[in-house]
Amino acid sequence: METLPVLLLSKPNNMNTLSINNLNLTYKNGFQAIQNISLEIGNGMFGLLGPNGAGKSSLMKTIVGLQKPTSGNIIFNGVDIAKDPNYIKQNLGFLPQDFGVYPKISAYDLLEHIAILKGIKNSTERKNQIISLLEKVNLSDFRNKEVHTFSGGMRQRFGVAQALLGNPKIIIVDEPTAGLDPEERNRFNSLLNDISKEVIVILSTHLVEDVRNLCSQMAIINKGKLLKKGKPNDLIAELNQKIWSKSINKTELDHYHSTYQIISQQLIERELYITTFSNEKPKDFIPVNPLLEHVYFHSLTQKI
Ligand SMILES: Nc1ncnc2c1ncn2[C@@H]1O[C@H](COP(=O)(O)OP(=O)(O)OP(=O)(O)O)[C@@H](O)[C@H]1O
Ligand SMILES: [Mg+2]
Repeated sequence: METLPVLLLSKPNNMNTLSINNLNLTYKNGFQAIQNISLEIGNGMFGLLGPNGAGKSSLMKTIVGLQKPTSGNIIFNGVDIAKDPNYIKQNLGFLPQDFGVYPKISAYDLLEHIAILKGIKNSTERKNQIISLLEKVNLSDFRNKEVHTFSGGMRQRFGVAQALLGNPKIIIVDEPTAGLDPEERNRFNSLLNDISKEVIVILSTHLVEDVRNLCSQMAIINKGKLLKKGKPNDLIAELNQKIWSKSINKTELDHYHSTYQIISQQLIERELYITTFSNEKPKDFIPVNPLLEHVYFHSLTQKI
């Protein structure tokens, strides 16, 4: 029998996989924040989309090992994180939703401190990484400035720098662009895009547009449950010829809500438009090209 060359059999070392299997998390007060969520995530940017209170931070904190699931498991590159928590920790970069206290020390010194905590023992290596990361996040000129004086955008970019220390294979960012102005948000997003080629980046957000622009894979969650998962384009294509719109008077709103499955209502130049999901064209509605917003709002209106 012919043997295959070893190269074909072995996995390239820059491929990463995260499998979340039947995950449940119930908090001490009995609240079930994650209900039977399963996801397969590979290299590239994965968008985790959901409204406030959906369970995004709960899921992310469970993936990074800050809290233990009630049942189910999480396997990173074949290693069960419950059995070997150190493997994911050594390969992880995390930018939490609340980064917490910003101490009165310089950006450089804080990165140095975090690098030591992350186990980067060699001082030359630490220095090289810190200098190159400060460059990458455009904070070189502010390396000696105290972090507590930074603006929101600078803090987020600092947050990315600390997450990237130690060349992680999986980077988890929880609502990173909340509170950033459009220019900072673009800058931040393109930074994430650049680093996502050879690592897993999980981006949690309630901004549909960020997922649309950045993510090749996504999931929508609400009330702790998985509503949809897949490629944004595929999820949009599922709604082809199923989204309809109509301009109405405000007084007719109740009538339309009771007659149609309204997925959103929106003011456009002071006109009120309603959008509905239907397999057939509703009378007097016009067809609309589906967008990721429609996928999102349609999923949220599904009974769960
Ligand atoms: N430690 C906790 N104990 C009890 N309930 C909690 C705890 N942490 C979060 N929750 C609840 O779990 C649910 C999900 O919260 P979570 O913070 O995961 O949502 P989220 O999707 O990150 O929301 P947001 O967009 O506002 O950040 C909420 O109802 C929240 O009140
Ligand atoms: Mg959150």
